[in-house]
Amino acid sequence: MSIIDGVKAKARACVKTIVLPEGDEKRTVRAAAIIRDEGIARPVLLGNTQSIRRAAEENGADISGISGVDPETSPELRRYADALYELRKNKGVTPEEALKLARDPMYYGIMMVKLGDADGLVSGAVHTTGDMLRPALQLIKTKPGIKVVSSSFLMELPNPNIGWNGLLVYSDCVVMPCPTAEELASIAVCAAETARTLCGIEEPRMALLSFSTKGSAKHELVSKVQQAVTIAHELAPELTLDGEMQFDAAIIPEIGASKAKGSPVAGRANVLIFPDLQAGNIGYKITERLGGAKACAVLQGLAKPCNDLSRGCSVDDIVTTVALTAVQAQNA
Ligand SMILES: CC(C)(COP(=O)(O)OP(=O)(O)OC[C@H]1O[C@@H](n2cnc3c(N)ncnc32)[C@H](O)[C@@H]1OP(=O)(O)O)[C@@H](O)C(=O)NCCC(=O)NCCS
Repeated sequence: MSIIDGVKAKARACVKTIVLPEGDEKRTVRAAAIIRDEGIARPVLLGNTQSIRRAAEENGADISGISGVDPETSPELRRYADALYELRKNKGVTPEEALKLARDPMYYGIMMVKLGDADGLVSGAVHTTGDMLRPALQLIKTKPGIKVVSSSFLMELPNPNIGWNGLLVYSDCVVMPCPTAEELASIAVCAAETARTLCGIEEPRMALLSFSTKGSAKHELVSKVQQAVTIAHELAPELTLDGEMQFDAAIIPEIGASKAKGSPVAGRANVLIFPDLQAGNIGYKITERLGGAKACAVLQGLAKPCNDLSRGCSVDDIVTTVALTAVQAQNA
């Protein structure tokens, strides 16, 4: 069974409500119908009722039985605006601005999740990553004890001998441009949870990557990764985690054995923590485009799950991301 089939099966076992703020978008209405038919989640489409209906008709999507909510006319609008005002008044948001924000389907959807009226949110077929991330960061906030929101990519490789039966988790490839050592350690702790809950990797073996292996090079960037390893051990002593190490030392057994003798991770890593966003983002795209991997991403560290899509996403990508979000919600 592929990792995604496994995630869908988990999602079906305890069905969650997932809000889709881009409810009148053509791929989103088609995805909502599949999600309902496959029992993956209870989707809620946000947007103007007529626009949602039109998008469904024009794209051959039967959305009967799927909840649709128009923030403009919703009886919950005032409650969400009041709660949003309370959460952001110390940042200078006025009651009028809070009402205006709550009318925006993205903020409305985030408030549904914040107040427990939905279990998770998926957006990004139309909005940029920043448009989706900002309200989530401002209102949902991080889980207790977690410093930063970040992301993991689940990379399904054609070679089953690498990682965990051909699966590697890459983190962070989306959010934190330039993490500090503390933030890098926090990203590692979140990636371990993602590996366990979404991929079923019982023992994540975590490598913190660098251009150096175990002191082979000296540079402040290497020192930052070494510090992150120390902090991550303090934060989560139970984790099998090591670094700093180069990519090949992390995943190729012979190279790991020669460059990092005695390491519990080298040569057998299944979770790779990149030192910054440039390395992580470039790394996942190389693995996808040259390595033939299938990639799907989730955000991690948020108190409740919200996930971003690529604007070039397919209907299947939306279905998959909703399934991942539903499983995160089961574990939130
Ligand atoms: C995440 C991101 C959108 C934040 O945007 P921003 O406009 O710089 O946001 P700000 O710095 O004003 O922060 C907004 C709020 O989010 C919080 N925040 C920002 N980044 C955060 C993070 N990683 N984790 C937790 N909170 C975070 C801030 O503390 C702030 O909270 P506050 O308003 O309650 O004080 C920005 O870091 C970003 O664009 N990252 C790269 C995303 C990207 O383009 N990826 C490309 C690959 S797809």
